[in-house]
Amino acid sequence: MPHYQIRGKVPDKRHIVFEKPAGGLYAEELVSAEGFSDIYSIVYHNHPPTKVLKIDDPLDVSPEVIVDNNLQNRSFKGFDVNPVEDYIQSRKIVLTNDDVNLILAAPSKSMTKYFFKNSGSDEMIFIHRGTGTFKSVYGKLPFKKGDHIIIPRGTVYQFDFDDADNRLFIVESKQPLRFPHRYMNKSGQLLEHSPFHERDIRTPQELITFDETGDFLINIKRDDMIYPYHYETHPFDAVGWDGYLYPFTFSIYNFEPITGRIHQPPPVHQTFETNAMVTCAFVPRLYDYHPESIPAPYHHSNIDSDEVLYYVDGDFMSRNNIGKGQITLHPKGIPHGPHPGAIERSIGQKETNEYAVMVDTFKPLKLTKAALDIEDADYYISWLH
Ligand SMILES: [Fe+2]
Repeated sequence: MPHYQIRGKVPDKRHIVFEKPAGGLYAEELVSAEGFSDIYSIVYHNHPPTKVLKIDDPLDVSPEVIVDNNLQNRSFKGFDVNPVEDYIQSRKIVLTNDDVNLILAAPSKSMTKYFFKNSGSDEMIFIHRGTGTFKSVYGKLPFKKGDHIIIPRGTVYQFDFDDADNRLFIVESKQPLRFPHRYMNKSGQLLEHSPFHERDIRTPQELITFDETGDFLINIKRDDMIYPYHYETHPFDAVGWDGYLYPFTFSIYNFEPITGRIHQPPPVHQTFETNAMVTCAFVPRLYDYHPESIPAPYHHSNIDSDEVLYYVDGDFMSRNNIGKGQITLHPKGIPHGPHPGAIERSIGQKETNEYAVMVDTFKPLKLTKAALDIEDADYYISWLH
């Protein structure tokens, strides 16, 4: 995954005395994945990160599943989700299974009254609209349109948006998110044939170091519940950290497409993976250059994964009547493909300017009320004419 980073002040060795200038010790916290067996960071706080004042009653945020067993091609108009001021309330789960929640959110206010922590899932937040700063104990991470913000579970964070116009597509994953194994060498470096490189990864920069006590609310999500934890100390109180575990951004605009003489399959567009799904980024690219190539995709059947496409920008060459922020869901077992006319239209074309994010889940996805509220109900018969 990402490589070693260091910010601020850390002692010369792990687990030794680290004195504050005014006396007393900084509080060392090891943040580690898979017990002590995978990536970790060591954070040095002004105060121990354990000073819980109280815990309010938990809040149930279970998705309202309406269609448990879906075997129909579907489409949802993502931009029909209404903006909501509060970040947590803005997160609308539209598709869900035991491994992932796919969420649309249009938060219109920055987070000022509380912090958020997802302790059960990693998050990939694709910024479709909006700019600002993602704040965590690891420092300030600026974001803008086209960024995927990758947030390891357990990261306490706040979104600071520059204005009210924000559109987020969020993948909440119970399995750890990682770069595709086939793009990494045995030392974890991205290989030469990878469509992205370490220089394309943006990491937290300027540390945020509060040395404050009071009542700090962290809304902690695990599974379908949110636990309002009140702490006595500000969560962003680190004077330094180092390690491999931290949030980062990767922009869709830095994805270098892989092209060929004939149509390339979706895995060439892959960005991240878990044991339960893959994600891809479709970006502007030159079309296939065999003289008789058909640039539009062939009809296909996913026999073992549900396929979700989130349309971002440009003309979507294989689809008619698709808008920005729209989602299509093509479940395993039901063929799908270009809309009528799209194959013929694509022949002889030189390039596409489409942007889209894809999520393929290995378990079937269930549909929530929030999805049905924005559904294009006739999509499943849209291949007729
Ligand atoms: Fe497909």
